[in-house]
Amino acid sequence: MNIINKRYYNLEQFSKNFKDAKPYPHIVLDNFLIDSFFKNLNLENYKLSQNTGRSFNTNLEKNKWTSKNEILSKNLKLIIDELNKKDFLENLYKLTGITDLFSTTEGNTSLANYHEMYESGFLGTHVDHSSEPITGLPHVLNIILYLSKDWKSLWGGSTILADKNGRKIEKLIDFVPNRAVIFLHTPFSFHGVTEIKKSPIKRSTIYVDYYSKNKDPYNHFNLLFKKVWFKHPTTFILPNLKDYFQIKNQSYLKKMIKHKVKAFFS
Ligand SMILES: [Fe+2]
Repeated sequence: MNIINKRYYNLEQFSKNFKDAKPYPHIVLDNFLIDSFFKNLNLENYKLSQNTGRSFNTNLEKNKWTSKNEILSKNLKLIIDELNKKDFLENLYKLTGITDLFSTTEGNTSLANYHEMYESGFLGTHVDHSSEPITGLPHVLNIILYLSKDWKSLWGGSTILADKNGRKIEKLIDFVPNRAVIFLHTPFSFHGVTEIKKSPIKRSTIYVDYYSKNKDPYNHFNLLFKKVWFKHPTTFILPNLKDYFQIKNQSYLKKMIKHKVKAFFS
């Protein structure tokens, strides 16, 4: 059974929109999964029922839980498998023009494919890990699929797309159930999640990342920043410059400086 809406069998039709989007290439696809499948999706309460996964509660990642090493439900696995299939990778190539795309076998082990966030949760702006965990090859694309069926946009939890320094919000993508967001991942694709002000339900998403064997994967795009790829860890931007001088934030300061230096010399 193909669970993706057939409107999205060929993403080539969205290629221009994807490439022209600012602050960096992205596309929003509503009603991404077929209705019958999405309506019957049951989001078990992983966090309360099991003690694996990983919880976050810091200044930059609040009230968040990810499914790292968690055993996921059949339906969540079905979605993740679909997004990792060769057919979907070919479709992503048509959308992006990025050659030699591949998905990682490390999904949900050293990475996490399913994320939850709760009331007052948020995620500061950051760029993800730059490289595939086994091969070290470039991380070039992300897909996020909004799962919570009864979510209201006014609760918050929108996806932030920020400028090349991660300081200014350039675009907010509202959390609409069954909406997929695909965006180009580069060393300057800063993104995050706005604060969840009040919500009776959890904000659930699926996240799958993609890589390329091409070490110069951004050359064919018109970007507002350098078209370079370099190695970096997940790098957060603290909201205020003075935050970098607090002892507890030393690791963020080091990562931010390394990122700036590499960006300058790349
Ligand atoms: Fe991220």
